[in-house]
Amino acid sequence: MLSSTLIPQSLLGFSLSCSLFIWTTPKMPISLHHWNFTMKPSCPEVPPHPVASSAETELRIERTMEKLDQLTPPRPFTHRVTTTSAAHSTASILHPGDAYRRGDQLDILLEARDHLGHKKTDGGDFLRARMSSPALKAGASGKVTDLNNGTYLVSFTLFWEGWVSPSLLLIHPSEGVSALWRARNQGYDRVIFTGHFARGTSHVNTDCALVLNSSTELCEYLDTQDQEAFYCVRPPHMPCAALTHMHSQNKDVSYLSKQEWRLFDR
Ligand SMILES: *[C@@H]1O[C@H](CO)[C@@H](O)[C@H](O)[C@H]1NC(C)=O
Ligand SMILES: *[C@@H]1O[C@H](CO)[C@@H](O)[C@H](O)[C@H]1NC(C)=O
Ligand SMILES: *[C@@H]1O[C@H](CO)[C@@H](O)[C@H](O)[C@H]1NC(C)=O
Repeated sequence: MLSSTLIPQSLLGFSLSCSLFIWTTPKMPISLHHWNFTMKPSCPEVPPHPVASSAETELRIERTMEKLDQLTPPRPFTHRVTTTSAAHSTASILHPGDAYRRGDQLDILLEARDHLGHKKTDGGDFLRARMSSPALKAGASGKVTDLNNGTYLVSFTLFWEGWVSPSLLLIHPSEGVSALWRARNQGYDRVIFTGHFARGTSHVNTDCALVLNSSTELCEYLDTQDQEAFYCVRPPHMPCAALTHMHSQNKDVSYLSKQEWRLFDR
């Protein structure tokens, strides 16, 4: 699906620095460095494209959107200082063991706080949990459970032996997630698409969009995989197949308020 919301490419989050050693045999001492938070850049990744039949896909999209709506309620805020701050949030190991063995679980409790140091009382922060052993070129994701009261349980399965560094990144505070979701649902008209048609020596540009409000004849381009259609105004005396390429440009409008933009200003 195309989204009309721009998500900043360069993000800052928090990083939990800690390393621990995973043993294959029990009763070995754990070496645990102290925990702290440092600012560190992170980049969002594009999710994989789903493959399924059209009716199934439609239903799945509908259900996913409903779920996302429930998961992303409005989170109004008056100032950035009351939104989740990586620097003020704290993480601690739950039930720390004397030693960790391959296959064990490492549970971390994250307490989210705002920029004033006050505990958050609701969930919804976009967190990413990973552990890695760069020397082994090994990495795995952790599972984040939102307890919906400002605390999160982060669980890692310790898959391999050796030194492991868990990391926890705040990609967006819940207020930012909510603002992006609202803005994303406010329409596709934030991006201007222009189709280029060529036939012989004539070249014509026309307007294209996912939803096109035009009384003139339209060309429909259907993505057979996900059954989503894209439309262009049909140029006079040219077949729809004469479309060669398309370019897009952002309109100078935003559905985010100035206050909300500050959450993505890093
Ligand atoms: C984090 O810990 C390292 C040592 O492990 C220390 O040098 C650094 O100053 C700490 N950073 C903060 C922000 O406390
Ligand atoms: C958050 O919710 C969990 C699960 O319901 C509960 O165990 C925990 O005590 C709560 N923490 C706070 C700070 O309210
Ligand atoms: C389409 O455009 C007309 C005229 O500009 C407008 O009156 C109408 O509300 C628009 N319809 C939609 C669905 O945007």
